[in-house]
Amino acid sequence: MAKTTKTVTEFVCNECGASSPRWLGRCPACGKFNTMCEEIVKSAEPQKAARTAVYGGRAKPLSSITYENRNRTSSGISEFDNVLGGGIVTGSLVLIGGDPGIGKSTLLTQIAAHLSRSKKVLYFSAEESCSQVKLRTQRLNLNSDELLIMNETCIDGLETELDGVEFCIIDSVQAVYTDELSSSAGSVGQVRECASKLMRIAKSRGITFFIVGHVTKEGALAGPKVLEHIMDTVLYFEGENQENFRILRSVKNRFGNVQEVGVFEMTDCGIIPVTDYSGVFLSESRGEEPGSVVTPAQTGARCMNVEIQTLISKTAFGVPRRMPLGIDYNKLVLLIAVLEKRCGLNFANSDVYLNAMGGIKLGEPSCDLAVCAALASAFYGKPVDKYAAVFGEVGLTGEVRAVSYCEKRVAECVKMGFKKVLVPAKNMKSVAKFADKISIVPVLYVNTMIKALFKD
Ligand SMILES: Nc1ncnc2c1ncn2[C@@H]1O[C@H](COP(=O)(O)OP(=O)(O)OP(=O)(O)O)[C@@H](O)[C@H]1O
Ligand SMILES: [Mg+2]
Repeated sequence: MAKTTKTVTEFVCNECGASSPRWLGRCPACGKFNTMCEEIVKSAEPQKAARTAVYGGRAKPLSSITYENRNRTSSGISEFDNVLGGGIVTGSLVLIGGDPGIGKSTLLTQIAAHLSRSKKVLYFSAEESCSQVKLRTQRLNLNSDELLIMNETCIDGLETELDGVEFCIIDSVQAVYTDELSSSAGSVGQVRECASKLMRIAKSRGITFFIVGHVTKEGALAGPKVLEHIMDTVLYFEGENQENFRILRSVKNRFGNVQEVGVFEMTDCGIIPVTDYSGVFLSESRGEEPGSVVTPAQTGARCMNVEIQTLISKTAFGVPRRMPLGIDYNKLVLLIAVLEKRCGLNFANSDVYLNAMGGIKLGEPSCDLAVCAALASAFYGKPVDKYAAVFGEVGLTGEVRAVSYCEKRVAECVKMGFKKVLVPAKNMKSVAKFADKISIVPVLYVNTMIKALFKD
């Protein structure tokens, strides 16, 4: 890659800030390995001008600022709009991360095709050729004649192509590079510089960018953390490749709630939103085997019933394993400790595996009681009634604390045809009105729940 004569770069250590004119494997100042990353010291002139246009100007009182009307545009996919907080905000940067082959390009092609019917949209494909994109639009039967496609990896020429463009898709940020840095595409320095360039264009020209980002083996977005800081919205597209369901989760949103999730199905005709998501997170065999319990979980503005499954097996090694999928590891360890100390259940010689069905991530405390119920069910070897749901926050003393959205949760259970719901005793007042539709069991302590489910 040829470097422009005006640009000067150096390598700076991410840990201590020491600089060097050449790349070094080990920082001579702090001794850390692989921390030197290329940065621009003196940039080419046009970029400076662009920077002034974005941030330029002097300090001024808030009252003198004219309100920027942040219009929202529909993407044509209702679930996607929900996750964004009600539509695409003009001039925003949206990063979509996900495993390889999960469907990021498919989703964005569908959105681009929809938007291109009324707006000028550019699909900047650095990973696939123009014919591959065309093939996909044909396979998905998309009406996308007006969609502009560009197959390029150098981002420096992008700005001239953006005249009149309102939406631009970059597929992907790890595959593009700028000539100002000599490091290869996908390196920390390149990803950071390219993302900053896109941010400057978005903010100065009001163009909305959808940027595809790769994830690392651990599931985090590849590249520097600053990538997420620059973005207005960061979405993760998740799901098991073998299964057809996909979940779009927002982890950062400057224009909406971050707990919102979108449920999609991957079909031959592309990705379609699942509006009737009620049965997606429940298994067919629920209630037949011990260790499975349903909890109404609130994610953003919606409530859905999610099945929590646990499996307990004898420890083969000295230290028992705790392996949760979908809930926090420390939360599982804490709830096991509560069950051992307050209810006399013993997991000291057992490996514990836990899975929230459908690949959903449960972050809210209201699922505590359901996790305890699933663990107790596996411990006693007694299945929980198929039509019973459980929710409530569990404290270290073993008490069950009130949770928010109690009415909505019970209403969802009624809608789904459940016959019994265990609710925190402190929430009883707000749900008394459902008493004729569903049997409501107040729970004050974890022990009360165990008695109600397994000892009656
Ligand atoms: N001809 C086809 N028929 C049905 N489904 C297909 C077909 N081709 C691709 N798919 C589906 O599309 C998925 C790939 O989608 P896509 O290319 O959008 O993923 P991606 O997240 O962009 O991947 P990458 O990270 O490699 O760019 C495949 O996993 C497959 O499920
Ligand atoms: Mg792709």
